[in-house]
Amino acid sequence: MKVSENIWNLIAPIYDILRRNPISGYFLKREDWAAESLTKKLLSYDINTVCDLGVGRGHTLCLIPEKIPHRIAIDRSMIMLKLTRKASPDNLFINADVLNIPVKYAIVDLIFCIGLVEYISDLESLFTQIDAILKNEGHVLLSYSPRNILTFFRFLRGHKIYPRNWEEIEICLRKYQFELLDSKITPLQHQCLLKKKN
Ligand SMILES: C[S@@+](CC[C@H](N)C(=O)[O-])C[C@H]1O[C@@H](n2cnc3c(N)ncnc32)[C@H](O)[C@@H]1O
Repeated sequence: MKVSENIWNLIAPIYDILRRNPISGYFLKREDWAAESLTKKLLSYDINTVCDLGVGRGHTLCLIPEKIPHRIAIDRSMIMLKLTRKASPDNLFINADVLNIPVKYAIVDLIFCIGLVEYISDLESLFTQIDAILKNEGHVLLSYSPRNILTFFRFLRGHKIYPRNWEEIEICLRKYQFELLDSKITPLQHQCLLKKKN
């Protein structure tokens, strides 16, 4: 088991408490609001299958209305998945690395990738996986953490953090044929609403 996986397994039971702490809560609430407002723009589309990469405790997946029939939640931390499954048992939970997703067809209409990119060293491999499971004209809500003092201090939690700038993201968008529809900036994240070109 990798060190980072162990750290997420340790954090999982207190992750909700961290969100209620007034200091971390202040920043995390802003991420939730941004994700909520970008997700709302997609709800008029015909969405059948949603996949949340690095689902954690399910804070993004819960933005999706109950009526969407298929929800796939992927995370490498078994403890995160167990706790999230208790709260919302109707999703399909897959314990896997996002760089090796065991879904072999382009069946997903919407992918959430919030709070994940900063833990991934190989951005292109992540985009290869996203591209493989996303339908043409499907959407992705993806966040990345810029190089700033707040991102820098997150290494104190024990993780290796990979901050990114817009140019690095844009290289992948061009290579994998994604269009940027909208974006929001919060203190910890830049969130991008993307559409896969046909
Ligand atoms: C900061 S949490 C974000 C959780 C959720 N997306 C949110 O916005 O609240 C990051 C999650 O990504 C998971 N994760 C990190 N690296 C991963 C990888 N390579 N494959 C699968 N999950 C990963 C961690 O276990 C953790 O649950």
